Amino acid sequence: MKNNTNPGTPVVIITGASSGIGETAAITLANKGYRVVIAARRKDRLEEIAEQIRKTGGEVLPLQLDLSQVGQIRDLVERTRNVFGRIDVLVNNAGSAHHLWLDEQSLEEDIQTQLQVNLIGMIQLTRLVIPEMVASGSGQIIHISSIASWVGVPTYTIYNASKFGSRGFMSSLRRELRGTGVTISEIFPGAVDTEFGQDPDVSWKTTTVTPKLALLSPQSVADQILEMILRKKTRSVIPGFMWLAIWADAHFPGVVGWILSKYFYSSNGVRYSWRQRKE
Ligand SMILES: NC(=O)c1ccc[n+]([C@@H]2O[C@H](COP(=O)([O-])OP(=O)(O)OC[C@H]3O[C@@H](n4cnc5c(N)ncnc54)[C@H](OP(=O)(O)O)[C@@H]3O)[C@@H](O)[C@H]2O)c1
Repeated sequence: MKNNTNPGTPVVIITGASSGIGETAAITLANKGYRVVIAARRKDRLEEIAEQIRKTGGEVLPLQLDLSQVGQIRDLVERTRNVFGRIDVLVNNAGSAHHLWLDEQSLEEDIQTQLQVNLIGMIQLTRLVIPEMVASGSGQIIHISSIASWVGVPTYTIYNASKFGSRGFMSSLRRELRGTGVTISEIFPGAVDTEFGQDPDVSWKTTTVTPKLALLSPQSVADQILEMILRKKTRSVIPGFMWLAIWADAHFPGVVGWILSKYFYSSNGVRYSWRQRKE
């Protein structure tokens, strides 16, 4: 399908395409011949990625998007329709996490913004593209979820809330759309080697070290996105053995909680938890 730029070529919108999984997915899908709309806040990064895609003959539309702004979400959908005339796949990938204990999360910047970007903005965007997909009898929403949509982790309260919430949303939507031809897909990655959550101001207290063997590359998630599109898969946990963590937390939450508690320390090696902070 490469270099096929006719109006029948499928169009994929990817949010959070300025780095990490979204950037790699955009390049991977463009290389396979899909027309890609890449959206995020950092316009300069989007332009660089677009340039890279164009050099290899791909068709790309970079659009600035802040998922906390409803007007920008509407613009993204409208401009995609105006330029490409169709939306075949929406990859809801944008997300952010501030790894802080709950009492350190500010009411607006941390709590409201994370929920707005990871959950509400994602729902609003999905809401805008679904009717046309249903009318055409085909289309796909792919959500880059997380193991954190199944397993609660200290310092992930707001992130967990957004990912658990998005799993509920997708689960309900999948049933609403039964028989319409629109596919709802979710990818649940473990830790991925990206810029995600690496802000030193907010993540220094946790030393959750993922063994190199279990750390996914952005490319492996991008390949999974392509696989979901080609095979219309609905769910994928990667790496596969992470199903064990989900199963263990569902059946032995106390044991999982005890194991997780071993991973949360302060920067000087002293265990750091709500209980100790009260002393
Ligand atoms: N890395 C992991 O360990 C991991 C594990 C499981 C799931 N995930 C999920 O994977 C997805 C992608 O993360 P990543 O690992 O690729 O991290 P990343 O490199 O930090 O990418 C996050 C993307 O989200 C965009 N974004 C953040 N806030 C936004 C906003 N307000 N409006 C629009 N876009 C916004 C960022 O772009 P701008 O800053 O330019 O806006 C960036 O392109 C996230 O949903 C994350 O929850 C990641």
